[in-house]
Amino acid sequence: MYHFQWLALRIAELGGDISVARYPVYLEAPSFKELILLDSKAEKEAVSQYKAHIAEIVDPRTISLLERIISDEERHAEKFALMAEKVADVEKSPGEELSPEAEAKRNKLIEMLNSGVKHEYSVVLQYLHQAYSTKDRGFGHSLEQSAITEMKHMGWLAEHVAEMGGKPPVERNTLILADKEEDMIKANIEDEEKALDLYEQQIADIEDEELKQLLETIRYHEEYHKEEFEYFLKQSVEKAAKEKTAPVNETKRKVPFTVGSLIKK
Ligand SMILES: [Fe+2]
Ligand SMILES: [Fe+2]
Ligand SMILES: [Fe+2]
Repeated sequence: MYHFQWLALRIAELGGDISVARYPVYLEAPSFKELILLDSKAEKEAVSQYKAHIAEIVDPRTISLLERIISDEERHAEKFALMAEKVADVEKSPGEELSPEAEAKRNKLIEMLNSGVKHEYSVVLQYLHQAYSTKDRGFGHSLEQSAITEMKHMGWLAEHVAEMGGKPPVERNTLILADKEEDMIKANIEDEEKALDLYEQQIADIEDEELKQLLETIRYHEEYHKEEFEYFLKQSVEKAAKEKTAPVNETKRKVPFTVGSLIKK
């Protein structure tokens, strides 16, 4: 996530668009050991990619950033390789036998929690993208904090799903990556409202007290997010109104270099 942040902020500095596209993620392997080895492989692939990029770049600052990331990824690759050795003996314990009725109930619950996982994953990406794109550092910081909270929500729900023998999805809803700050915030408020509806419904439907409490905590956080966004929306609207009435002073952003000048020809 730090690497994502550093690269994204560098891209924003250069006036570029931050990508939220992703490479394939490895979720399945014949064994857990092989799954972890795929993580190690992904880290090594990242190292090769960053090395190839360094070979094409002349800008020392970007090179030093990529070198820093490479050193982290190399450590990650080793860490995963060692981890794979340690988990070699871990076998999947056979799940308990359930009556068809109990199984249907369990599957329904997994499906419910997974809709939360999907929501959380989507807003993590959306808020981070906005946090790194906006020039308003206060708003950016708040977005980043919200993204971190959403990531916790995703983790809590996904762990619950996994404990019940389900598979948490790594799929996302459509992300709203609006250009205008006001539109971004409005989309976020709508997302938080949807989350509030979702969790309220789940709290009403779920019997498990512990799970209910977890969802109450998440619901409360979403309420807070919504209020935060409403505050920033008010600020953004006021700022826009002020800019409208003030004499317009056309200041074009000065670009001291072009992306082309940072790349080896
Ligand atoms: Fe890594
Ligand atoms: Fe959330
Ligand atoms: Fe939220």
